[in-house]
Amino acid sequence: MVQSANFPIGIFDSGVGGTSIWKEIVTLLPNENTIYLADSKNAPYGEKSKDEIIELSIKNTKFLLNQNCKIIVVACNTATTNAIKTLRQKYDIPFIGIEPAIKPAALSTKTNVVGILATKGTLNSELFESTSSLFKEKITIIETIGKGLVDLIENGEINSPEMSKLLATYLQPMLEQNVDCLVLGCTHYPYLIPQIRKIVGNKMQIIDSGLAVAKQTKAILEKNNLLQVNMQKGKHQLFSNSTIQVLEMLVGNQIALTEIKKRDF
Ligand code: DGL
Repeated sequence: MVQSANFPIGIFDSGVGGTSIWKEIVTLLPNENTIYLADSKNAPYGEKSKDEIIELSIKNTKFLLNQNCKIIVVACNTATTNAIKTLRQKYDIPFIGIEPAIKPAALSTKTNVVGILATKGTLNSELFESTSSLFKEKITIIETIGKGLVDLIENGEINSPEMSKLLATYLQPMLEQNVDCLVLGCTHYPYLIPQIRKIVGNKMQIIDSGLAVAKQTKAILEKNNLLQVNMQKGKHQLFSNSTIQVLEMLVGNQIALTEIKKRDF
């Protein structure tokens, strides 16, 4: 299919978390139209097998291609680390992915101990394994599965006592092991930064790659001559295949021309 600069940017995640990336993209590229899929009916992806994650990622990609998306941003570390290779082999369209930002953490750490909070699916993936092995000689990497965090966020329980308790069980051991850089390896987690700060204070730098993904999206659009030239504000459609309440809570009316709908895909 011939791509046009007027076509939308497609973005998907296992649920509402990828809106942390969507916000960076629409802020950096305000004239682009976007379609965001929250596959909340199937969240969390992090506990699923690689094959299941690939199957769900293909389903989301097909839907976005049917909507004429010119580029697809896989706004999910779990889907990127397990499925982006297959997606790139299968479809002739640019894909942008997100992976835990170990490199910036390795460059910033003073204690040489870096913490990574991510899903089981991300931490067990071959892609994560090969990236992290590049740094393991120089720094100690404490990998922690954030089991349960995505479920609570999907339920809208970002500030609940359960969330604080769960976060403390993951972060206290990191504090004890002298972690000074914490990599947020899941796109849901930026919504937890205020809660994380309450536990770790200023003892850790928190690293997430939302802005880097937005910049990479812009660079790849430019390279392919697909950057929107129309100067009107972009329109945004956000679809969830579950309830839309949490999407509305996280995105609300922060960005003009945004429509949030329940839709099957
Ligand atoms: N936002 C997804 C990620 O970045 C969450 C994964 C999940 O659904 O478990 O990995």
